[in-house]
Amino acid sequence: MAIRRLSFLLLLLLRAFASLPTQTAARGGADPSSGIDDEKHGSFLRNLLEDKPEITEEMIHGYMTNSELEIAVQDFGSRCANVSRVYSIGKSVNGSPLWVIELSDKPGQKEAEPAFKFIGNVHGDEPVGREVLMQLAYWLCDNYLKDPLATLIVENTHLHILPTMNPDGFALRRRGNANNIDLNRDFPDQFFPINDEINYRQPETRAIMNWIKQEHFTASASLHGGALVANYPWDGSRDKRKEYYGCPDDKAFRYMASVYSESHYNMSLSKEFRGGITNGALWYPIYGGMQDWNYIHGGCFELTLEISDVKWPKASELLLIWKQNKMSMLNLVASMVKTGVHGRIFAADSGHPIPGSLMVKGIDSKINASRTFGDYHRMLAPGESYEVVASMAGFTPKRTRIMLEREAVNLDFILDPDGAVGQTKPVRTDCDCRCDDGGKPFLIREAYIWLYLLVLFFLLALYILFRRRIASRLAPHRHPPKRPVAV
Ligand SMILES: *[C@@H]1O[C@H](CO)[C@@H](O)[C@H](O)[C@H]1NC(C)=O
Ligand SMILES: *[C@@H]1O[C@H](CO)[C@@H](O)[C@H](O)[C@H]1NC(C)=O
Ligand SMILES: *[C@@H]1O[C@H](CO)[C@@H](O)[C@H](O)[C@H]1NC(C)=O
Ligand SMILES: [Zn+2]
Repeated sequence: MAIRRLSFLLLLLLRAFASLPTQTAARGGADPSSGIDDEKHGSFLRNLLEDKPEITEEMIHGYMTNSELEIAVQDFGSRCANVSRVYSIGKSVNGSPLWVIELSDKPGQKEAEPAFKFIGNVHGDEPVGREVLMQLAYWLCDNYLKDPLATLIVENTHLHILPTMNPDGFALRRRGNANNIDLNRDFPDQFFPINDEINYRQPETRAIMNWIKQEHFTASASLHGGALVANYPWDGSRDKRKEYYGCPDDKAFRYMASVYSESHYNMSLSKEFRGGITNGALWYPIYGGMQDWNYIHGGCFELTLEISDVKWPKASELLLIWKQNKMSMLNLVASMVKTGVHGRIFAADSGHPIPGSLMVKGIDSKINASRTFGDYHRMLAPGESYEVVASMAGFTPKRTRIMLEREAVNLDFILDPDGAVGQTKPVRTDCDCRCDDGGKPFLIREAYIWLYLLVLFFLLALYILFRRRIASRLAPHRHPPKRPVAV
């Protein structure tokens, strides 16, 4: 009798050890319900592609020139040195540095956190983005430790801001760069080999491509003008037809685009685009676009945001446009932390983090974990259950099912080396990436486990004998933990 009870308790204990509860971070926040459509909308005439009539001096008045922008970026770097860093990712055709502001409580350092990038002024004649992005940087710096959203972004993400990708086009007041190439058509395309010749690729495009190899971006957005809509992949359809052409992560993208449009002053009220969002190929297919390339080659979920019907509004309207986009920008960056599935991948034998990859059953795309910390961050539409698989060459994949509510799920994986299943049974403590960035998992070797259990066994025996003396009617009944362990 006592033996049976003891072994039952021991079993419970073992389970408790083997299955520490999955962390489900409660971070709150209003998530817009996505009013999503598959419906084809009427085709409206847009002048997105044609060069606008002459941009006059009067129109430019009040906008920062390239040198003023450069000074503003450098000034920002010194004024906000605490939580930012300024660096360049390359140079334009005419030699302007492509300056980036990184905002983070540990700028320039690697952390097990998601990274986001904003890119403005891709098209030289769409200058609103570069102004609005500077406002975003100022606001975050001024409100860090004062506003919860600013604090969350600075402390839990790395936000990289490139105010202008096309300074030459801006100076020339035209769409293309100094070689008159449209940079949002200059990336290698998945369907048509139009830009596969590396030597012909523009320096601005190359800078972005190298950037994605260096930083491990989870999501991003580029800012454009000429319409008011949040556009998501695919950019182009295989047969060049204007039709809905969704990528494998269509649901997650529609969710992200809706976060933007529903947080915007009036984007979601659009008459042209239901909910203020659109699939790129349905609107008008393009090839060589930046967002598709990011998603395919960087695992980076990028949106193309059209933030102003007028490409070159009066400078006096810029502050208003910033205010109308402020919550959208903040909520989009914060959605990387507040939703999706996050965690780290470890090797069971060494205990070290490994750069494995993460798949979701039914979604034909892979997200890689980082080399340094083995951390991964995957955007997923909330309100559904997903089967998540972590894998790495030389290790046995592990899968688990999660229910993603309106908050992020934290899920770590410990992978057994191939052919070593069952030989090691590492036990780990809770390892919250957000608090414990560099920490390795706390592993206890098998030998220690048995020693540990032996001691516990004795303690338990003593405990039960003791309780028996005090009260003979003792029937402890505990339920095993509800949620399975991180796998
Ligand atoms: C910012 O600077 C202040 C004063 O120099 C310092 O107390 C604070 O810890 C710094 N914050 C961060 C996040 O580095
Ligand atoms: C949004 O508001 C702006 C004024 O700030 C207006 O020009 C625009 O037409 C509005 N768009 C929609 C879709 O309501
Ligand atoms: C993930 O890593 C693999 C192997 O290193 C690489 O081939 C692949 O391109 C990466 N995928 C993404 C989306 O970064
Ligand atoms: Zn544009």
